[in-house]
Amino acid sequence: MIWTELFRAWPGEEVVVRYDRDAEAWMFVAIHSTRGKRSVGGCRLKVYPTPEDGLWDAIRLAEGMTNKWAAIDVDYGGGKAVIALSRPVAGEARTALLRRFGRMIDSLNGRYGTGPDIGTTPDDMALLASVTRYVHCYDWIKRAPYDPGIYTALGVFVGIKSAWRFVTGSDDLRGVRVLVQGVGDTGAPLARSLAKAGAVVLLNDLNPDKLDPVAKELGAETVPAEAVYRTPCDVYAPCSVGATLDETTIPQLTCRVIAGAANNQLRSPEDGDRLVARGILYAPDYVVNGAGAVSLAMVDEGAGFDAIEREIQKMDQRLTEIFQEAKARGESPVAAAARRVERRLGVAQ
Ligand code: PHE
Repeated sequence: MIWTELFRAWPGEEVVVRYDRDAEAWMFVAIHSTRGKRSVGGCRLKVYPTPEDGLWDAIRLAEGMTNKWAAIDVDYGGGKAVIALSRPVAGEARTALLRRFGRMIDSLNGRYGTGPDIGTTPDDMALLASVTRYVHCYDWIKRAPYDPGIYTALGVFVGIKSAWRFVTGSDDLRGVRVLVQGVGDTGAPLARSLAKAGAVVLLNDLNPDKLDPVAKELGAETVPAEAVYRTPCDVYAPCSVGATLDETTIPQLTCRVIAGAANNQLRSPEDGDRLVARGILYAPDYVVNGAGAVSLAMVDEGAGFDAIEREIQKMDQRLTEIFQEAKARGESPVAAAARRVERRLGVAQ
């Protein structure tokens, strides 16, 4: 799709674009909504096949962030930044690129605040914070970054138990086969919690340097990329890039529950109905992965770990309500979650 059509079809406020000549990279800041204090969402830094793929990711992720903030009752609008690389960048060149990105964020005067996402780390937030104050996942009082990934993972863990209980009547995960796709900042801590709870953990990651140490630590089986969707499991937890659920992968799935940390797990809205037709309970991504955002908003308000952890336990109730509403109306949890978001945004306007 060409970018003019992408923009026309997108209901957001603005997209800021810069071409970074030094790194030969495109910077996209998609501001879907500035409701509340500002638009807030992470910064994704990765190689994309084309700049348009990066733009597509940015605008979809920004829209997802608006839903996420609404689903967890936080007064921010959705935004997302994508630095679309044509080739990998490291060391000094990467630092310099991030500084230039920080200055771009600063030039938006607070309409967008950034945070970590795929390809950026908590330490990168400290670097950005030396250039602009519009950085989250950073404790401005202690002047230290922190990692939202462990909180996201905790929320997904609570969500998996919630979904498993909804389907089987018990949230005992002993012996339950959970396939975690992606063992990065969210997938690795999630896999640890699952193993501790007695689940049989199966792991996949495209990067063996990430996969092998975690698989060894947990004694977990690894699954090659081409076998992910057809490998027998009870729960599928996508924790990497989005759009893994579509008309070709859904027919292959054997799981009863899907709940994971990835954003934009469905390629298109119809995929939610495809999952219902296959009898798979889907925890809407922006709800079940919202705990990282919860932690960010609470750290912004000065909260500590215990308070954040308590707040994240509310994920269970939130998801259970969504599953119940979906079941009662014979629809997908995606539809029930969307109605929840509409109610929240409707009330707030
Ligand atoms: N990128 C993560 C997410 O999408 C964490 C994050 C949340 C970062 C909110 C910034 C803002 O949930």
